[in-house]
Amino acid sequence: MAAVGEFIVTRLDWTSHNVRVLHGSVRVPGDKSVSHRALMLGALAEGSSHIRGFLEGEDTRATAAVLQLLGVRIDAPADGERVVHGVGLHGLRGTAAQLDCGNAGTGMRLLAGLLAGQAFDSTLVGDESLSKRPMRRVTDPLERMGAKIDTQNGLPPLQVRGGQSLQGIAYTLPVASAQVKSALLLAGLYAKGETEVIEPHPTRDYTERMLAAFGWPIDFAPGRARLSGGHTLRATQVDVPADFSSAAFFLVAGSIVPGSELRLPTVGLNPRRTGLLQALRLMGADIRVENERESGGEPVGDLVVRHAPLHGIELPEALVPDMIDEFPALFVAATAAQGKTVVRGAAELRVKESDRLAAMATGLRTLGAVIDETPDGATIHGGPLHGGTIESHGDHRIAMSFAVAGLIASGAVRINDCANVATSFPGFIELANGCGFRLETA
Ligand code: S3P
Repeated sequence: MAAVGEFIVTRLDWTSHNVRVLHGSVRVPGDKSVSHRALMLGALAEGSSHIRGFLEGEDTRATAAVLQLLGVRIDAPADGERVVHGVGLHGLRGTAAQLDCGNAGTGMRLLAGLLAGQAFDSTLVGDESLSKRPMRRVTDPLERMGAKIDTQNGLPPLQVRGGQSLQGIAYTLPVASAQVKSALLLAGLYAKGETEVIEPHPTRDYTERMLAAFGWPIDFAPGRARLSGGHTLRATQVDVPADFSSAAFFLVAGSIVPGSELRLPTVGLNPRRTGLLQALRLMGADIRVENERESGGEPVGDLVVRHAPLHGIELPEALVPDMIDEFPALFVAATAAQGKTVVRGAAELRVKESDRLAAMATGLRTLGAVIDETPDGATIHGGPLHGGTIESHGDHRIAMSFAVAGLIASGAVRINDCANVATSFPGFIELANGCGFRLETA
């Protein structure tokens, strides 16, 4: 551990070695988006909500800690379980403490909406990476609703001033973002009149589905959602499916290592999340969905991936929002494919936990890949990878993607600064090595 300015940085480097084959069943942890939302709605509900399959990641634990500072009792009866003792819509208590969202954009942006309608002031802060991420996309429309939020030139910390009276608005999002949509809907719980959000492309609809499950009247369809203030949330049970975004690394790994077969049980298959499944199938991947069923109002299924020769594609732009977190993994699949893969319309990747277009292009080039980076995408040419040392830029998904690249590189792939994998995927190394990865930490 080293203190850098006001941030504590934990460094943990990995080395990923090539392997002959991957086999086994991989139980990936709970969905991050669903876990954040279950905590927040549980906190505002009347009664106690039981969450099963909760993601024990740093991001979701940070959200739980924020809610506890705001006076919500949250019990952890077992690993992956939380009981949230709701305080009701107006039961949160203000605190002078800073509310630390850690690395989590979802935590900060959704909490900004939730806090905008409270009677008290609050301050949301984040780690070094989150402190560089744009917040105007959420504070601008919240201010239109009557909120008062100060930023540092559009960046965190966010100073949310309480005691404002919010008014519902109709808002068309300039960029497709489930986080912004969700922030506005959460503020809308406290607003007079109707809050309506219209999206340029439909995004994940967990907030809408979960509000309905907690008994709040809401009208939604792909690309739009509308609710009005003044109702009550009633505690419920939330079953969190396994996170498709975590499964994604194994879908790519199983596809690119010859002879492999991996099974991923009970993965969330909300259609707004499964763009990578379609993209990989367009590239020739062999991925089957078995036991498709519904769990807690969400489609889930067991994914079975077998190695298959991949070929490059022009990625349909319409798939981009449905696989927004999966591009680092897709880029690795594209280097293993025959021919070139073209990605366009993905400029949002530049404002994730790192600039993911630059991080992937630079890292894969270090391993010998040929990539032309563009402002909103890249052309990735399939070809062999060699060993090398790459930077994760403290981004969990970049780190895990290069662990997958190491499976097929001719030499060892050393990945610097992987500690943040714990934000979304605690236990990645053990699960990965359990199915045949050769991943070492240093
Ligand atoms: C999320 C929405 C997406 C995604 C993030 C989780 C959510 O972000 O990248 O990992 O839970 O709402 P944007 O809203 O910025 O697209």
